[in-house]
Amino acid sequence: MDPSAPILFFDSGVGGLSVLAPARALLPNAPIVYAADSAGFPYGKRTEAEIASRVPALLGRLVERFHPRLAVIACNTASTIALDHVRSALDLPVVGTVPAIKPAAEMSRSRVIGVLGTEATVRQPYVDDLAARFAADCTIVRHGSPELVELAEAKLAGDEISVAEVRAAAQPLFDGPQGERIDTVVLACTHFPLLEDELRSAFPQVDYVDGGAGIARRIAYLTREQPWPSEPTEGILVLTGPPAHRPLDSFLATLGIGQILTL
Ligand code: DGL
Repeated sequence: MDPSAPILFFDSGVGGLSVLAPARALLPNAPIVYAADSAGFPYGKRTEAEIASRVPALLGRLVERFHPRLAVIACNTASTIALDHVRSALDLPVVGTVPAIKPAAEMSRSRVIGVLGTEATVRQPYVDDLAARFAADCTIVRHGSPELVELAEAKLAGDEISVAEVRAAAQPLFDGPQGERIDTVVLACTHFPLLEDELRSAFPQVDYVDGGAGIARRIAYLTREQPWPSEPTEGILVLTGPPAHRPLDSFLATLGIGQILTL
């Protein structure tokens, strides 16, 4: 294994940075390529067929260009639809990001769990399967919010966003049947942990859970016997087209990303 072989992170936009951050904390010297499919954003509004054909093809191009040791699909929408297609198309380990329903079921006392994701993710059979396997005695209330995805992109681009906007976007989760009994909310879109402060201010009565820390541990485990550079190297952000919002350089720098390329 070449010590300079990177870990490839993939999302439609900035959401996967919420997965990269805990991975970077565990593996500070890991070379990073973070790819944002800015030309395909937002995934939550796309069809299953679009995601299932687009994501494996793009990942194939990224693997050819950057020769990563491991790929992380840091996107719930892409993972719940295309993880199997990607795994069969690529000859390297692929870690997916799927809604953290299992830890939520371990935490919930009311046995009513909210799943906040994209519109595409919350309708996936994959979510039904996770609920049946890990939360069979819980009621799962779902809401898909494209507004929260946009708010997370705007926040990381340096725009002012308010708690009131975040509250309005997430409120329908609590307004549906059993919504008032939710005590644990799964942040089932990687953009949403980037809004956790605003969500906690808007809805302080619930606990929040996401998959970032678990994915970081999984990456560390899968690469445990592999060599790394002796010091941190500059990470690369790859865009597939001009983004509607571009993340602030200062924010990218906190994650060790200093170069921006277009695929
Ligand atoms: N960050 C993505 C997810 O985890 C998708 C956001 C979008 O492009 O709609 O689902």
